[in-house]
Amino acid sequence: MPHRRLKVGVTRKLPDTVEQRLAALFDTSLNLKDRPLSRDELAALAQDVDVLAPTLGDQLDAAFFARAGGRMKLVANFGAGVDHIDVAAANERGVIVTNTPSVLAEDAADMAMALILAVPRRLVEGVRALERGAFAGWSPTWMLGRRVKGKKLGVIGLGRVGEAVARRARAFGLAIHYHNRKPINPHIEEELEATYWPDLDAMLKRMDIVSINCPATPQTHHLLSRARLAMMPPHAYVVNISRGEIIDEEALADAIEAGRLAGAGLDVFEKEPRPNARLLAAPSVVLLPHMASATIESRIEMGERVIINIKMFADGHKPPDRIILGLE
Ligand code: DGY
Repeated sequence: MPHRRLKVGVTRKLPDTVEQRLAALFDTSLNLKDRPLSRDELAALAQDVDVLAPTLGDQLDAAFFARAGGRMKLVANFGAGVDHIDVAAANERGVIVTNTPSVLAEDAADMAMALILAVPRRLVEGVRALERGAFAGWSPTWMLGRRVKGKKLGVIGLGRVGEAVARRARAFGLAIHYHNRKPINPHIEEELEATYWPDLDAMLKRMDIVSINCPATPQTHHLLSRARLAMMPPHAYVVNISRGEIIDEEALADAIEAGRLAGAGLDVFEKEPRPNARLLAAPSVVLLPHMASATIESRIEMGERVIINIKMFADGHKPPDRIILGLE
């Protein structure tokens, strides 16, 4: 199919250069006002395009695919996570789903590392104290945090982002531990001097900081459950830049309020865009508004991946970043 005849529907405002390139290559329907589409608007757009380029706020569930009509054959997601897309329902209707892996890994890892430093060192608490005029001068015992160097970091999901987090953490003197379904490539494990824990519970009992870097799937929903949070030592911190659903947020708030966990750094929430009010109020919790990949460089490269996937599809090839169920 020549590119010109493909119609691409984009659900949110993308960086200008990405929109310009899309418009040069395809017949495009853009969302220049950046107003999130309702379910009806999303279904209507899908019926009118060959390719849909959604983002994580769009719910592409089985009901959406049932209403999408037969024209749309590719969902080229602008983003790495595809937990908002029912990939099985898409595939059943002959729709391919792609994402934008790799390009945002380094920026996302920077944000995880920023939280790994910010929470034990009480960075945001310090800023807030200064802003409300509570700094009365240096004191030997005021605003004491915890040393990062020498602590054990447990990475849940040592994939692209997890590995980038581990590399940064090593530079700060943290010892790397990880839990995956399978051990990683032994060369990388050796280079990171990483310890593999097949048993997540066993790892959690021993870690000082836990970083969540696995995707959200039915299997990882509330992976950090109430029971697992209770296994962690009271001096431990949790950092999550992946998806809010992976932690039982109410259980996390209970643990932090009761002093059974030292703190948390969260870029993602269970019910975005609303943060958990108790976590928001907790001084030892740093909350960010889902901004781990929010650099102009990442967002342009994410757009380029979307375009590559659409072009390959348009040329009759398999798009490089297609989601293969079971391997995601
Ligand atoms: C993704 O790509 O899934 C990220 O969460 C966006 O930052």
